[in-house]
Amino acid sequence: MFSGEISMCGIIGITSEQGTLIEPIGKIIEKCLRKLEYRGYDSVGFAYIDSSNGELIVRKAEGKIDQAARKLGFNDANGSIAIGHTRWATHGKPSDYNAHPHTDCKGLIAVVHNGIIQNYLELRRKLISRGHAFRSETDTEVIPHILEELISKGLKPIEAIKEAFRILRGTFAFAVIFAMEPNKIYFAKQTSPLVIGLGNRANYVASDIPAFLEYTNKVIVVRQGEFGYISPNEVYLESLDYGVINVKSRIRVIGWTPEMAMKSGYPHFMLKEIHEQPIAMERTLQGLTREELEEAVKLLLNANRIFIAACGTSFHAGLVADYALTTLAKLPTHSFISSEYLKYSNVFSERDVGIIISQSGETIDSLMALRKMKKAGAKVIAVSNVIDSAIPREADLAIYTRAGPEIGVAATKTFTTQIIALLKLACQAASDVGVDVGVIENDLNRLPKLTARIIRAHEAKCKILGEELIEAKSAFYLSRGIGVPLSMEGALKLKEIAYIHAEAYPAGESKHGPIALIENGFPVVFSVLLDDYKEHLIGNITEMNARGANTIGLIPRGEEQFMKILDKYIEMPHIHPMVAPALYVVPMQMIAYYAAVSRGYDPDKPRNLAKTVTVE
Ligand code: F6R
Repeated sequence: MFSGEISMCGIIGITSEQGTLIEPIGKIIEKCLRKLEYRGYDSVGFAYIDSSNGELIVRKAEGKIDQAARKLGFNDANGSIAIGHTRWATHGKPSDYNAHPHTDCKGLIAVVHNGIIQNYLELRRKLISRGHAFRSETDTEVIPHILEELISKGLKPIEAIKEAFRILRGTFAFAVIFAMEPNKIYFAKQTSPLVIGLGNRANYVASDIPAFLEYTNKVIVVRQGEFGYISPNEVYLESLDYGVINVKSRIRVIGWTPEMAMKSGYPHFMLKEIHEQPIAMERTLQGLTREELEEAVKLLLNANRIFIAACGTSFHAGLVADYALTTLAKLPTHSFISSEYLKYSNVFSERDVGIIISQSGETIDSLMALRKMKKAGAKVIAVSNVIDSAIPREADLAIYTRAGPEIGVAATKTFTTQIIALLKLACQAASDVGVDVGVIENDLNRLPKLTARIIRAHEAKCKILGEELIEAKSAFYLSRGIGVPLSMEGALKLKEIAYIHAEAYPAGESKHGPIALIENGFPVVFSVLLDDYKEHLIGNITEMNARGANTIGLIPRGEEQFMKILDKYIEMPHIHPMVAPALYVVPMQMIAYYAAVSRGYDPDKPRNLAKTVTVE
């Protein structure tokens, strides 16, 4: 039902008839927020209207619910209306003051928000120039101040929400309470998930169904461009495009267990996260500011040498970046697996720049490599998915991928978004030295749509290909050029979740040893990109065919010469080879996922692996 929507930050809102709640509203908010904990968060807060005096009260703190509970005093918050939030930092570090809700200057409007307000810097500047006082570093805080201005101009809350919706750009969902309307929660949705729950003399609004599933299974999924309000007995829904909506026609009864609901109906988080990639990519593209890229590019262009260090999947993204920085921007770049940093410890100098890539930002090997670089005086750029985690904190500069929390152990959306962030960086560097990167940038912007299309068009075929690997003992993933790190990632996915031995190497190496392993039915996955290596791969495929391999190809659409020689193939859209790894990896993720499932394994929890590796 929520296909394509991303987990990140949790919103809950409850409005009930006076005197009908059997426990303090703060306690109910706490329970609902706990159901959203799986989304990942670093701070928590809520706002309610005190039933004794009508005052709007905000309580918020950095940390998990258990750590923050005493400070927040959930149990003594009494009222009939409240909004709550778990924050996963995207703008501004995790802290009490950056936690949601955020309020206007007078403290009469409280807002919780999920997503990114793309034009917040410009809005913030204007609001400050008109006298608004900001208390946080977040993009969210522009919302209550905009609403404050619109209300002071005489607009009703619903009109103000509609107008704010037109002013804000980005991907977001938010919920608002106004002190002057003490039984209504207003909301708006642009891409980020939002769902309404219809209860008994109470209604709910949340980022995800598990938040209120204990109280009701009657839901309305709020769609793109919709806004409105809930009161204890009413739901008002309007669309920017279609006007007022008949809410009755939109009510659905959910038969999910809470566990199924957390996965939005997907059987595994990994599959959900594969499907979330288009929106995760969109967030990365929208979230990266020209300023942060330019600062990093300045360092890169002045560097004597660039060292890229990372582990696992992040290392593969690093190799893609290495390829782009070397061939596009012509910068001297060296990549290594973080745990091998000792080789370079006497080599780093203050004229070098390091790029450390880590989705978690906490991987100890990468942290050690970073420290070695810094100790030698090198400047370090961190590329991470988790704001204010150890690696970005210790780096000189951080670039965030904003993919949202990833729960499946196998990295999927964090890999494709790393590639986008790193290619944006490489393109900016190349363009600063006079290289035309227009086509690459254009293809980067097409990625979200193309990825959605690939998933739609090819998931069924990937399922069959994955299931056919049920008896496989081993597989090769081959390509050339920038297709090699892509193949390495495909092979890693297959081994870590389906427990099938898989090896990736440049296709030209087959004759130097590995081809000795080929026997009848041995799976070999070729990635064919639209680059100068393309024709070379024909010979590599036929040499595998001649030895009985089962050749499977990801090939550019319409390439008949490859269709004729491959046993099976998936046609991919035409895309610049530099950008191709972020698209071609998606079928590889799906093949590995379905191989794991058909072999009876849980892809979310592969044996012997942890999501974050904090031991050397
Ligand atoms: C593979 C995977 C790991 C991580 C590696 C680095 O699917 O998830 O290989 O990529 O442990 O983790 P980060 O990026 O958090 O430093």
